[in-house]
Amino acid sequence: MTALPGPTLTVDPTRLHAATAAFFGALGVPEERARLAASALCHGDLTGMDSHGVFNLGRLYHPLLTSGRARPAAEPRVLNDLGACLLLDHQRALGLWAAAESMDLAVDRARRHGVGLVSVRGATHLGCAGFHAARAAEAGLVGLVASNCGGQRIAGPPGGRPALLGTNPLSVAAPALPGRPFVLDMSTTVVPTGRVRVAAANGEPVPPGWLEDEHGEPVTDPAAFDQGKARLRWLGGTPDTGAHKGFGLGLTVEVLAALLSGAAVGPAPEALAGEGRPHGTDDDIGLLLLAIDPDVLRGDPGAFAAASGGVFETVLNCPPLTADQPVRYPGWWEAERAAERRANGVPLPAALHHELTALGLDLPTLEARR
Ligand SMILES: NC(=O)c1ccc[n+]([C@@H]2O[C@H](COP(=O)([O-])OP(=O)(O)OC[C@H]3O[C@@H](n4cnc5c(N)ncnc54)[C@H](O)[C@@H]3O)[C@@H](O)[C@H]2O)c1
Repeated sequence: MTALPGPTLTVDPTRLHAATAAFFGALGVPEERARLAASALCHGDLTGMDSHGVFNLGRLYHPLLTSGRARPAAEPRVLNDLGACLLLDHQRALGLWAAAESMDLAVDRARRHGVGLVSVRGATHLGCAGFHAARAAEAGLVGLVASNCGGQRIAGPPGGRPALLGTNPLSVAAPALPGRPFVLDMSTTVVPTGRVRVAAANGEPVPPGWLEDEHGEPVTDPAAFDQGKARLRWLGGTPDTGAHKGFGLGLTVEVLAALLSGAAVGPAPEALAGEGRPHGTDDDIGLLLLAIDPDVLRGDPGAFAAASGGVFETVLNCPPLTADQPVRYPGWWEAERAAERRANGVPLPAALHHELTALGLDLPTLEARR
């Protein structure tokens, strides 16, 4: 979870969704698409993954759509349809919408074949990978989403100087307990860049372990990242504690999402001339959207759901080390937070609320109504 800086204002989640959809609509995104894209974006704000919610509307999606790097009404094109698997070119359609549609397509194929695999090139930023993977879990299937960052390079290999890969998110979702699916949703670097920037804006140090200097020593000043004096670590931390596993996961996403589909890749020869600081752009992103229908696979409807319920119930019942910190599985706290925010409103930093209002979003605050 990311805590955004400063005093907060609270907005009604339905109004936030409607205003976001209207914003996309005003930029030429067809109405139905705009609604689905708004759901994908507001998922970040509802679940507490705030670094990938409306925080990115003005910073990322507005310039993407107005510059033409994303095309609001583009129709994804089928390049190859083999039944259980498809190769698509998203043609720079808005990734928040197109990734969700592609996962729904994977689910549809999995219901017929047991597995549905949609490989995508020409994609744009999909937001929270977990929003799209969870669509499979909501349908009773297992979902996997991998996204590279096109030619955007943010993190270098352990022991290597230039940045070669993006923060390459990976998500796996599955039905678990009622209303509480398993949703592992993460960057393959120790954190996404958004969380470093949030800390910098907040004037707060980051924990040792997120950033390192050119000698591999920990850096806790988040401003050092954008100054080019620190770089993100991979999951696993340092070479001694498993950084190669995180780097390997980042490369795994590159293989699954970009090499399979023919999208742009981070480790292209021109990357070697780059510095340790981020370089390149996240155009022509590659995605993998995979759905597996356990009932079709096993031929025993309900068996997977029952077993999965047992596994995740056991995780919940694991005695905690400290009484006030119960053991939960990935996706649990996000579902809890979404339920709470649906009931009580979504907190937005005042500065972000101001920015969104200036962009034309109609967002009355709950505080103003009291
Ligand atoms: N589109 C992109 O290019 C891009 C790139 C990087 C990240 N992202 C997105 O950024 C978002 C944030 O990523 P992140 O790496 O900061 O996620 P995070 O560190 O907040 O969470 C990672 C995972 O850990 C689980 N988790 C966290 N605390 C837990 C606890 N106490 N108990 C059990 N499980 C717990 C969460 O449920 C989640 O599945 C994600 O939605 C990701 O898809 C997108």
